[in-house]
Amino acid sequence: MGLEENIQVVCQDFLEADLSEATVIYMYLLPEALVKLKTKLESCFAQKTRVIISHHFSIPWWKGEEFLNSHIYFRQ
Ligand SMILES: C[S@@+](CC[C@H](N)C(=O)[O-])C[C@H]1O[C@@H](n2cnc3c(N)ncnc32)[C@H](O)[C@@H]1O
Repeated sequence: MGLEENIQVVCQDFLEADLSEATVIYMYLLPEALVKLKTKLESCFAQKTRVIISHHFSIPWWKGEEFLNSHIYFRQ
């Protein structure tokens, strides 16, 4: 599909990972893990991130859209 140059798969503790350059973040994390990421995800939207997608589990503090069992959140 030609997306390889635009995608970086990070296998790392998400609390340690540098997400500051990410324009789109896709996650499959349990609700308790999403809570741990709240501050980090908020700072991502304040930087370069335009879209955050959480597979299966919604992020309760944001209002998003649903598509194919994923919850999609756009920078406001
Ligand atoms: C809902 S499961 C996803 C299962 C599997 N990775 C998959 O894609 O089918 C959530 C995953 O988050 C991972 N996880 C929990 N804390 C994490 C952290 N601090 N950094 C990265 N991954 C973490 C868990 O190991 C678990 O595998």
